Amino acid sequence: MPGVNRIKLLPDHVANQIAAGEVVERPASVVKELVENALDAQASRITVEIQAGGRSLIRVTDDGLGMSRDDALLCLERHATSKIRRAEDLASISTMGFRGEALPSIASVSRFTLTTREREVGVQPSGCTGEGNSLKAGLQPIEGTQIVVNGGKISEVKAAGSATGTSVEVRQLFFNLPARRKFLRTEETEAAHVLHYLTLAALAHPGVAFTFVKDTRTVWQLPGQKSGDEIAARLPAVRERLRALMGDTKLIEVDFSAPLENPPSRNDEEESFETALPAGTTDSGLRAQDSRLIVWGLMGAPGVSRGTREDQHVFVNRRPVENRGINFALMEGYHTALMKGRYPVCCLFLEIDPAAVDVNIHPAKREVKFHREAEVRKLVAQAVREALQAFHSKSGVQSPESGVGSSKLKVQSSKSGATDEAGEQIVKVGIPFDVKTEPEFSTPSLPEFPLPLKPKPEWPARQTETPSLQMGFSSFRPAPTLPGHAPRPTPPPSPGFGAASHAVPSPSSNLTPDAAHHAPTHTPTPLLSVPLRLVGVIGKLYVVLESDRGLVLLD
Ligand SMILES: Nc1ncnc2c1ncn2[C@@H]1O[C@H](COP(=O)(O)OP(=O)(O)O)[C@@H](O)[C@H]1O
Ligand SMILES: [Mg+2]
Repeated sequence: MPGVNRIKLLPDHVANQIAAGEVVERPASVVKELVENALDAQASRITVEIQAGGRSLIRVTDDGLGMSRDDALLCLERHATSKIRRAEDLASISTMGFRGEALPSIASVSRFTLTTREREVGVQPSGCTGEGNSLKAGLQPIEGTQIVVNGGKISEVKAAGSATGTSVEVRQLFFNLPARRKFLRTEETEAAHVLHYLTLAALAHPGVAFTFVKDTRTVWQLPGQKSGDEIAARLPAVRERLRALMGDTKLIEVDFSAPLENPPSRNDEEESFETALPAGTTDSGLRAQDSRLIVWGLMGAPGVSRGTREDQHVFVNRRPVENRGINFALMEGYHTALMKGRYPVCCLFLEIDPAAVDVNIHPAKREVKFHREAEVRKLVAQAVREALQAFHSKSGVQSPESGVGSSKLKVQSSKSGATDEAGEQIVKVGIPFDVKTEPEFSTPSLPEFPLPLKPKPEWPARQTETPSLQMGFSSFRPAPTLPGHAPRPTPPPSPGFGAASHAVPSPSSNLTPDAAHHAPTHTPTPLLSVPLRLVGVIGKLYVVLESDRGLVLLD
């Protein structure tokens, strides 16, 4: 019908429910938004409680800045935020949130109670976002505020004698959206998602004390770790947090910094609001110089691995992220130090110019895209490699670059003609290992091993005793780790490569007796003086060689 206006503005609570479709997917997303708010409010202690996987209750309590009554009412309005004020602020965001959407969205799809009390004047007022009206006016907040909201409608506002800080209680999530509620998974699955997010938050913020209570049972109680601005001061804090979450796992430190060859232009059109921080600063407080990539954190020592990526945690500018390139880089960096089908254990923080990475490609901001993906991937692999090398040299084992090639084991390059019919490189090993080689000797870079091994028709019969050594180490593969997160008992020591060393003779200890055992009637030619073919390198620690008399594991 002409002349009839059909367009109407949606009521706020409907608009909020629509926004909730994006922000609130499941209990874990509510926990994420509330914990991020607590972190933004400078909380030093955060308690997360859930019941029935978060379906019946989610409560997040912090000891942060708290809110005045006016602010508490305002924070339930859409696009109400204390974190930005002007469009230009979008280019210098240093908080987890800024959209002002989470609280009204969550409140529109649950039975919601906000209880808050501002930090008293004089108690750490500096560094607060400074937006609290009463703080500004220098007034002493007398009491806290409690606001009850049901499905987006405020039903009660009253004074509350609460502790300083904020507590948000979310009951019966999606009670007014049965279709959404039906899509929730089992309590265990939803609780696992909550736990997963909390693990990441706890790792990224070791200075904050986290408590996690599930169905009235305390799952975690992690004290806040003393930390600092420097990586050296932050590493022990992360290490302690990892220990609390994963048990005693052998971890090595990563502290790597390298220039990015092609620093991105700050005017890059792809620059996203979400990642844009003040030039050269990251929200972690570290200085990521524009043209550098900093990789720091902890990663499993050789032999420490998992059957899934569950303990592989990567953060970019302190946000937990998923990125296939980084996954590959980790595998590349570990190379033979990781058995086939196994995944690294790590907690790595990448600090990079925010203009060089886009985290706005995924609604939950979990996926990131680096503008120079290949370069970042290469440097992350290098960071892992260097950490492994440093570990080897520290533990007295010479790294390929420092020792194996130059003094312990000399490898004849194919240039010198030392190849067999199959075109493989032949290694001559003697005791001591520094056999004579041609002057033009060159050591191939070990990470490029294993060299392709062509099938050998006349494989010695006893070789079947240790076939897995050269074929992916399957017989040494540890039982898969059960899925699930901390707290876990101390994991059993991974069989790792130590197990492999028991399975084959070690040249330094029992090689000759072993050779004698296998070939008692043979002429007593020392095994190490027969031609040996290089099969591969395990963990940059052991060199696997084969001869027509069997396998040799060289430490
Ligand atoms: N736990 C909290 N402590 C103090 N203030 C909070 C807390 N949670 C929310 N707020 C305030 O409410 C505002 C709105 O929160 P939210 O809807 O999550 O939007 P955003 O975090 O994007 O600003 C925040 O900007 C902040 O000022
Ligand atoms: Mg928020």
